[in-house]
Amino acid sequence: MIRSWLISAAAGTLLAAGSVGADAASLTLYCGADETWCQQMARGFEEETGITVDMTRKSAGEIYAQLKAEASNPKGDIWWAGTGDPHLQAAEEGLTEEYTSPLMSELHDWAIKQAETGAHRTVGVYSGALGFGYNKDLLAKNGLPEPKCWADLTKPEYKGQIQIANPNSSGTAYTMLATMVQLMGEEKGFEYMKALHKNVNQYTKSGSAPIKAAGLGETTIGIVFMHDSVAQTVAGFPVVTVAPCEGTGYEIGSMSIIKGARHLDEAKKFYDWALRADVQSKAQEVKSFQLPSNKAATQSKAAPDLSTIKLIAYDFKKYGSSEERKRLLKKWDDDVASLPQ
Ligand code: G6P
Repeated sequence: MIRSWLISAAAGTLLAAGSVGADAASLTLYCGADETWCQQMARGFEEETGITVDMTRKSAGEIYAQLKAEASNPKGDIWWAGTGDPHLQAAEEGLTEEYTSPLMSELHDWAIKQAETGAHRTVGVYSGALGFGYNKDLLAKNGLPEPKCWADLTKPEYKGQIQIANPNSSGTAYTMLATMVQLMGEEKGFEYMKALHKNVNQYTKSGSAPIKAAGLGETTIGIVFMHDSVAQTVAGFPVVTVAPCEGTGYEIGSMSIIKGARHLDEAKKFYDWALRADVQSKAQEVKSFQLPSNKAATQSKAAPDLSTIKLIAYDFKKYGSSEERKRLLKKWDDDVASLPQ
């Protein structure tokens, strides 16, 4: 008798505190950046607003697939971060809500253009250039030359020395695939991916995993966004970051409110909060060195300077379209991943 009274009293206290129960304001966040940044964003929003955040970290392709699978019964409220192509595909397929934040005028043109390309069902939150990094100690130990260009990575001396993510799950790896097709043309781009395939020892699920493996000496070279490679160096690992000599692609990390979000007001609050300069400036505290989309946000001096990197005119409209992304991924599965290594 006493026990059940105590339990109901405790439950009552918790409900009164608003920390549990259906009426407590809450938000389900699908997060596509690295875990530490996702945690910082979830906890930061909770602390400022008192809204409980249930955060899951997945790769961009996985979050897109989850939105598609849950479309008839959405579980998530907001999708923050991860490369912009899958956000655009979700927007085109009506999986995200149209919303224009009052903070739009504070954003860089490229972030506003991302929103316009996605019919205002998404918006740019950061940008970063694709490249690669290598473990300089391991490279020296193996007597390998320092790679400077994409072309270097297909040379036979790098057999088994390279990691990149799988473009079906990872936005980073899809950006690589779309970059090669734009840089070299589709036929030569796929020839490149087939040649690279021979040197890949593992296709990881997450886009930043290859450079974490390189930092630990588990592989020599990781193809990732340059800011992820710089983060390993800043963390003390013997990693050198390379902006490929031929030029390279880049991402517009994005944010989208999920269609049918059960907590739409909280999702809009998070959306506006995540666009604020002071919030975006905190990324450097968790070694996230992307270029923020709010013009007034600050970033670490360690961050790659995009103005010094040869970037291609990446066609986000085309490579973020549902048809093109599906076609390229299927062609990669059929023509590249199926080859022996
Ligand atoms: C890392 C990068 C982000 C990028 C994300 C994509 O977290 O720091 O800039 O948006 O990877 O993740 P994915 O696993 O989809 O490649």
